[in-house]
Amino acid sequence: MAEEIIIVEGNNTLAGEVAVSGAKNSALKLIAAALLGQGPSVIRNVPLISDIEIMSEVLRRLGATVERDGHVLTVDTAEVDNSETPYELVSKMRASISVLGPLIGRFGRARVAMPGGCQIGARKIDMHLVGLEALGVEFSIDHGFLEARTPHGLAGAHVVLDFPSVGATENLLMAAVAAEGRTVLENAACEPEIVDLANMLVAMGARVSGAGTSLVEVEGVPLSELRPCDHTTVGDRIEAGTFLVGGALTGGPVTVRGIDPSFLRVALMKLSAMGCEVQTGPDWITVGRERPLAPTDIQTLPHPGFPTDLQAQFMLLAACAEGVSVITENVFENRFMFASELMRMGADITIEDHHALVRGVGMLQGADVSSTDLRAGAALVLAGIAAEGQTRVHEIGHIDRGYEDYAGKLASLGANVRRASAEDASAAR
Ligand code: EPZ
Repeated sequence: MAEEIIIVEGNNTLAGEVAVSGAKNSALKLIAAALLGQGPSVIRNVPLISDIEIMSEVLRRLGATVERDGHVLTVDTAEVDNSETPYELVSKMRASISVLGPLIGRFGRARVAMPGGCQIGARKIDMHLVGLEALGVEFSIDHGFLEARTPHGLAGAHVVLDFPSVGATENLLMAAVAAEGRTVLENAACEPEIVDLANMLVAMGARVSGAGTSLVEVEGVPLSELRPCDHTTVGDRIEAGTFLVGGALTGGPVTVRGIDPSFLRVALMKLSAMGCEVQTGPDWITVGRERPLAPTDIQTLPHPGFPTDLQAQFMLLAACAEGVSVITENVFENRFMFASELMRMGADITIEDHHALVRGVGMLQGADVSSTDLRAGAALVLAGIAAEGQTRVHEIGHIDRGYEDYAGKLASLGANVRRASAEDASAAR
């Protein structure tokens, strides 16, 4: 298919209400967890994004059937034979590694292609492996594939994570639910998506407590006690935060519906500190701004700290603020590529190791820019809405991985954005 781009006309504002889709970073793992149900699980509020299609294909290659009806997936894993998770799918989406834990939980073995790195970092899995080895898993590498075996069975253990890795916590959780005995995960990740996964596992018959805190306890149950379930995915806090930044950037007010505001506490605190009015309800958040955008300092941290997945969006805000902001990226080793694209639009940013010094400028200028990862891509479209003139965002496949109908949702808030094939757009210049 010809390359598509997003064309944005600037000098615009975003205002109105948009419904948030289900969380990409939860739904992907809920689909993997369905392997433990050994039958047809129903997963609701699943976003229509390409990463979900890839994970669905991973499950099909393992022998599951995955049927979609709008935002509802039925994942029947009764016939899964645990053949192998192929390289071409794992290389497309690193989150495929999330089948490792449930495959080991169900079969005691797995063969998964080793994930590569990506734009934002090496994306290692050492903590996944060390934790699973503590549960009795033995690993070997066979021509780029990770072979997992449990010669003496899967037994609960006390695991202390070096770093509260989201993926490692999830894989350990999904293996531990079927291990013999108790598992304690110390320094576990606390993201809302972990809580969502734990809730689904409990609905399947697992015994998990403490999810959402750094100390999670699991009492293993026999596999025969785990059964399919019907689960609704939580709202996507990063999608919500992205639209709220659009409201903060252009004045808004923008309301996002279908999100628990407690998922975004620190990000909302930062928006208030930058001069925005923030209002919240049980499942909605509104952000507007009448005062000038003030600078702020940001440290990305594991939840409940400031989310790294909103770092690019807030760098954009800082680039338009009246003053100097310092943004420190503590989670990924290479997540400032967005800055170089934003500088092509006139931003004034200096990168020193994992710090970005952002000097606010009055107005950005529209330009041709390229998405370096999905959050940077989403932020570039927002930049185009506020900038002077036209912006054309390339490599928008990154955006389609994690945002359902991004251009359509922005247009419903008043943006002048449209998708076009790159050659049509260049011909029209
Ligand atoms: C999840 O990635 C999310 N992806 C990321 O969202 C998110 O940025 C990240 O968590 C942090 O919140 C999905 O859920 C699919 P980590 P994950 O394991 O699980 C290092 C987006 O934009 N590390 O918490 O890979 C790792 O390299 C994406 O939606 C190890 O060194 O994140 C990284 O620097 C981007 N060894 C840091 O820890 C390990 O074994 C955090 O990784 C595991 C991780």
